[in-house]
Amino acid sequence: MQKYYFFTNFSTYNNSFAASKPLIMQVFHKAEDLRQSLASGREKGAVIGFVPTMGALHQGHLNLVEEAQGQSDVVVVSIFVNPTQFNNSSDLANYPRLPQKDIALLRQQGVQVAFMPTEDEVYPHVVESESFGFNGLDEVMEGAFRPGHFKGVATVVKRFFEMVRPHLAFFGEKDFQQLQIIRALVKQQALPVRIRAVPTQRSEKGLALSSRNALLSAREREEALLIYNSLMWAKSEVAHQSPEAIVKGVKQRFAGSSLRLEYVQIADEENLQPVTRFKQGVATRIFLAAYAGQVRLIDNVSLI
Ligand code: PAF
Repeated sequence: MQKYYFFTNFSTYNNSFAASKPLIMQVFHKAEDLRQSLASGREKGAVIGFVPTMGALHQGHLNLVEEAQGQSDVVVVSIFVNPTQFNNSSDLANYPRLPQKDIALLRQQGVQVAFMPTEDEVYPHVVESESFGFNGLDEVMEGAFRPGHFKGVATVVKRFFEMVRPHLAFFGEKDFQQLQIIRALVKQQALPVRIRAVPTQRSEKGLALSSRNALLSAREREEALLIYNSLMWAKSEVAHQSPEAIVKGVKQRFAGSSLRLEYVQIADEENLQPVTRFKQGVATRIFLAAYAGQVRLIDNVSLI
């Protein structure tokens, strides 16, 4: 059971919205405790913003939190390393876990509620994904290389939406395919939550911020800049080359490097299917996954 209750004074907080930072952050492990704590604010009309994470928080997450703080009265951040979205047991075992550091960061950021449920709380019956149909959105790119990944993501996000019951939920564009799948999930299940997309946060040199970056050596970190540089090169070529030729050019850049390219695809943002030509009015992105040493990194940028 959680010890601190600044929410009892919710109306004061609600009046000041997200402008003043509360001194005390609540940390819950049980959905029922979270539900009770949010109940009075919910009844008074507070907008509950939700940022789901797997922890190992970095500036990219904090940026999602800041967006959530700007648009909500109460921000809930969850930390849960979801086993059903890993299709590789060593990836799950090696995923960085830094709960104390994460809590300190959230506290410093003025987050009101951290939700860190146990596996039993999230999966009370069986640790398994539900079946969903996403009209092919989950079969390309990440879905093709990480079978079952998006079913695990959709299962856990749906479960968190049930436990947190947010009005708004915030997702980063770095995981653009995930974002589109969550949007599809919300639509097909008629879930009462609005999805907000937040642009990718990058290091000064362009590396997309990711929890996995913590696993990179200094040298791999430098080498990984090829990802962003290639995406930027691709963007600069849109007016001059076909999608196919640009994909070929990106592959050539990786061929001479220490990084192992897994896929590169130029796709329609809506259906995530590859495009054969650029069309004004059809939002199009380039997506890429590559290994720097043992670390798998993904990134994407908007082309048109
Ligand atoms: O993007 C992530 O960190 C995860 O896929 C999410 C949305 C928290 C679900 O586990």
